[in-house]
Amino acid sequence: MTKKKLYIKTYGCQMNIYDSLRMEDVMRPFGYESCNEPAGADMVILNTCHIREKAAEKVYSELGRIKREKDKNKKMIIAVAGCVGQAEGDEIFRRAPYVDVVVGPQSYQSLPDLVGKVQRESGHAINLEFEDDKFDQLPEEHAPQGVSGILSIQEGCDKFCTFCVVPYTRGAEYSRDVPAIYREAIKLVANGAKEITLLGQNVNAFHGSDWNLGQLIEHISKIEGLERIRYSTPHPRDMHEDLYKQHWNNPKLMPFLNLPVQSGSNRILEKMNRKHKRDDYFKIIDRIREKRTDMQFSSDFIIGFPGETDQDFEDTMDLARRVGFVQGYSFKYSPRPGTPGADMDDQVPEEVKNERLQRFQALVNEQQLAYNKSCIGKVMPVLFEKPAKYAGQIVGRSEYMQSVTVEGGEELIGRIADVEVTAGRGNSLGGVVTD
Ligand code: SAH
Ligand code: SF4
Ligand code: F3S
Repeated sequence: MTKKKLYIKTYGCQMNIYDSLRMEDVMRPFGYESCNEPAGADMVILNTCHIREKAAEKVYSELGRIKREKDKNKKMIIAVAGCVGQAEGDEIFRRAPYVDVVVGPQSYQSLPDLVGKVQRESGHAINLEFEDDKFDQLPEEHAPQGVSGILSIQEGCDKFCTFCVVPYTRGAEYSRDVPAIYREAIKLVANGAKEITLLGQNVNAFHGSDWNLGQLIEHISKIEGLERIRYSTPHPRDMHEDLYKQHWNNPKLMPFLNLPVQSGSNRILEKMNRKHKRDDYFKIIDRIREKRTDMQFSSDFIIGFPGETDQDFEDTMDLARRVGFVQGYSFKYSPRPGTPGADMDDQVPEEVKNERLQRFQALVNEQQLAYNKSCIGKVMPVLFEKPAKYAGQIVGRSEYMQSVTVEGGEELIGRIADVEVTAGRGNSLGGVVTD
């Protein structure tokens, strides 16, 4: 049987990247294999993100381009999956009638059924059910992920921050059982992973099989051949004693964490319904650094949330200065339909948001550059992942998620080697392998 070609384009967070891999696993038994472009594909899936307006609107412009391919090949199946699928549902068929299938992040295991339905009956097919046992319904078979693997262990969110669509698009907090996670981790390592990042929208709220994340990390770190463990994305409210202990004592847990704070102003944090204060954030950082002095942090920030004054913004700048982030992700507040923030009446004017965002990003970029420069002369272990842009160079990651490029051959890929850092740039390091 000739294989059918499946093209998946992924937007948004790492959980979406994981879901896209699993969609390939779901479609493979039905004769689909992945390809790198929509031209000539039998099926196209856009796995979408609804977090900010820009992300959601990108989907419709991409659909316009995909439609031109479908005009050449009328049998092409177009599916919209992910958080835009969940949030907009039928509306997608109205705006883009050539879309055949809509599924959400909790219902993509039904893709083969929906595709079959479209092929038999023509017309549209949609499934937006929230099914707790999605993971149990997914195939045990996984495509290998390479040197650095991702593994979703927790999904959904019950926190309802007032800016955020995730509780609506991903549903209630759900944790997978420990044995299933462990089996998946073993397989990733057997297929060449040296590093695993455990994923969840609130990953440290994990409570599968009544274990917490600290206990899970301790268990997984016993897998032989697994050298590095990370987790993403944690919430400040869900830090716990077992997790601190892992940071202090487990050499496989990397000394770098993206811990979103969103704002440095207590007033804004309260309006955001974050249920933590700026001091709670400092305490977490101090606590980890107390016994893991080399620990570094990055964070997510929202600039220009409704009611944010100059002073609130200065509090965010101050928080960033005090922590000294080595990376940072900052976004202009984007009002999302259906979230409480969108209806607040003190929206910040666009030009104020722009100006603050620029100042904030300049600060974080400065911190990142200073940190990268401070690495020059140090010897750091680097996990090599793939050939770099230029021939004869290989790129990997430091323990702190810095991208590190060296001269070298492909035999480095999959190895952790010591690198003496010789260059520190805004977004990356350069160095020489020493062992
Ligand atoms: N669960 C994580 C993050 C989920 S969303 C947490 O609790 O922090 C990823 C990031 O997108 C958030 O950290 C936030 O900084 C950003 N984000 C979410 N909603 C947004 C909005 N309406 N406008 C701008 N940025 C937003
Ligand atoms: Fe969104 Fe807040 Fe839940 Fe994170 S904790 S996913 S920001 S609602
Ligand atoms: Fe986007 Fe959904 Fe992830 S909205 S950030 S793809 S959870």
